[in-house]
Amino acid sequence: MEKPNCSQQNEKQKKNQLKTEPIETTEVGGVNKVRAHRNRTITLSQAEAERYHKDLIRISKPANINTITNKIVNQNTFEALGFLPESFVDLLLLDPPYNLTKTFSSTTFRKKSITKYAEWLENLLVKLMPTLKNTASVYVCSEWYSSTAAHLVLDKFLKVRNRITWEREKGRGAKRNWKNASEDIWFATVSDDYVFNVKSVKLKRRVMAPYTDTNGEPKDWLNTPGGQFRLTHPSNLWNDITVPFWSMPENTDHPTQKPEKLLAKLILASTNENGFVFDPFMGVGSSLVAAKKLGRKFLGIEIESEYCLLAAKRLHLAELDTTIQGYSDGVFWERNTLNTQKTSPNRIPTATEPPPLMLSQEIAWVKER
Ligand SMILES: C[S@@+](CC[C@H](N)C(=O)[O-])C[C@H]1O[C@@H](n2cnc3c(N)ncnc32)[C@H](O)[C@@H]1O
Repeated sequence: MEKPNCSQQNEKQKKNQLKTEPIETTEVGGVNKVRAHRNRTITLSQAEAERYHKDLIRISKPANINTITNKIVNQNTFEALGFLPESFVDLLLLDPPYNLTKTFSSTTFRKKSITKYAEWLENLLVKLMPTLKNTASVYVCSEWYSSTAAHLVLDKFLKVRNRITWEREKGRGAKRNWKNASEDIWFATVSDDYVFNVKSVKLKRRVMAPYTDTNGEPKDWLNTPGGQFRLTHPSNLWNDITVPFWSMPENTDHPTQKPEKLLAKLILASTNENGFVFDPFMGVGSSLVAAKKLGRKFLGIEIESEYCLLAAKRLHLAELDTTIQGYSDGVFWERNTLNTQKTSPNRIPTATEPPPLMLSQEIAWVKER
């Protein structure tokens, strides 16, 4: 049976890349890895590992909010949960091991029956519930096979509001099945009182049918130097986000790393500035990095110290570069618009480039929406 996952996909990308790119070696955890010249994968030197180790904490007694704010906890989540304060979380991002047999650095998660996976998820959610504010939102990532388990478990404790399907495009072709190229992200809230900032997560799309009004003016779209665009309401079908790959500055060797753009959408929609984001299976800290770049507080827990150290390095890099690929001018752009984003009049320039001219018409249009 086909078992597509991000790991296989990343491996394939990395092999293809080595065929076509000049190569160099990088030391990762004492091992030399061969990488293409333009490969921007974040790695850790021994000196960095020692330096970032100081940023990690463990919790062995009841912790107050100050002890855990903007922290990385390097520990088994099930051990740490009982020591966390009550009602501090505005947004719980749950990206647990999927129901696949998969090795993360040194620990292996084993595929279970759907029923057993549902029991595992329920046991986890019961322990997480006390940490949530009454106004909190929860997102749970899942592969297609166990998605039903996630739905049923969430429905026992929370108000299930939607299922986002993320078309992550890449996936393994199968000879006797449909290629799997999607993941589900379940959206639930504790109560009916919750944050949803729809204006913060609109998608900037090219206009296919540029209708005009009776005066010949664009109808709900804008003519910009980069083309004709419209801001559209975000739907529960996401096909504008790729998995991190080797030439992206956010990429690491984590086998199931989530894209910052995806997490930024969830954070912007479901928290206000300064809101508290909690990720109990944070991997290499993609949600923490997105939260930090967007001015939110955060807490992440991860069992593997190697991933925690990479997360700490990424948090440090986020102080130098707050950009999120695919999100600029306060809007999310559809895929393959990087060149247009670069020429966008109100894009924030990097330190090495002069600010572009800004069309007052475009600024007003973006602000209005
Ligand atoms: C699906 S990955 C999360 C990836 C993450 N969203 C990112 O972008 O990097 C799940 C993570 O949970 C970690 N994990 C598995 N069991 C754990 C446990 N009991 N406690 C803490 N972390 C655990 C794994 O090491 C893995 O990094």
